[in-house]
Amino acid sequence: MDFDEVAVPAEENAVNPGSPLRVLAEAAAPTTGPDTGTEHPGAVEAPAVSESPTSGPAVSVSPVPQPLAPTVNRSVPIRVIDPGKPMVALTFDDGPKIRTTLPILDTLLAYQSAATFFVVGIQVADNQVALVRMAAEGHEIGNHTFSHVELAGMLPEDQSAELERNQSAVASVIGMPPRLVRPTFGSYDQALRTNVQMPLILWSVDTLDWKYRDPARIVAAVLDSVRDGDIILMHDIYDSTVQALQTLVPELISRGYQLVTVSELAAARGIGLEPGKIFANARH
Ligand code: NI
Repeated sequence: MDFDEVAVPAEENAVNPGSPLRVLAEAAAPTTGPDTGTEHPGAVEAPAVSESPTSGPAVSVSPVPQPLAPTVNRSVPIRVIDPGKPMVALTFDDGPKIRTTLPILDTLLAYQSAATFFVVGIQVADNQVALVRMAAEGHEIGNHTFSHVELAGMLPEDQSAELERNQSAVASVIGMPPRLVRPTFGSYDQALRTNVQMPLILWSVDTLDWKYRDPARIVAAVLDSVRDGDIILMHDIYDSTVQALQTLVPELISRGYQLVTVSELAAARGIGLEPGKIFANARH
């Protein structure tokens, strides 16, 4: 398994004509759906992904291998990041999970914002459509191990196997592997730092959304402490987090924050994400 050792320029996360995702989309998916005069002639319509974002698992993904039709939403804007202005990185662990991840993606899309999703490998097969949307809509996808085991204390080869299985699972869906790792439980040891071929991403604001499952409390946890350069920890597997986002995203924007991916945050602040580096915030 190759790990990409190069820090990710922000623009590589966007869908662009030269990206592996676009190549995958054009190669794998015949054009379907009505011609709406799009300026993206290669774009294709995926099965209805976001029409009923809160109505449960309306989207089923066949286990039978078939050409993926990434959702290339024609309304996805090109985001412009001003490195001189405040920004924070929303991060979501433990998904993807269609029922909760898709409405979070809808909220981010509505506010032209991006986030980073640290996905668990075993979740990928049944939730591919969420992963495809993340990639198509400019979000960053990170590695949160294959089976959500704690890496610290494991044999180095077992650590590598957990991470590589995740890399393979993600790459099988979107055509490229993650370039960031969030260690499960925020736990790491020197063996992991030495052997991992990617930066280890922690956080500076912990919403404890997994513990309280209370939208108001999640919102308050962020707004009471957020500062420029924060990395905010949430989980895209809870309804309460979905609800919190609907308040949190517009409020953060109204306070002047740009919502960016982890790699965009690092790049904007001139922070290199070398393999083994611990990155928890870009506060000034
Ligand atoms: Ni986790």
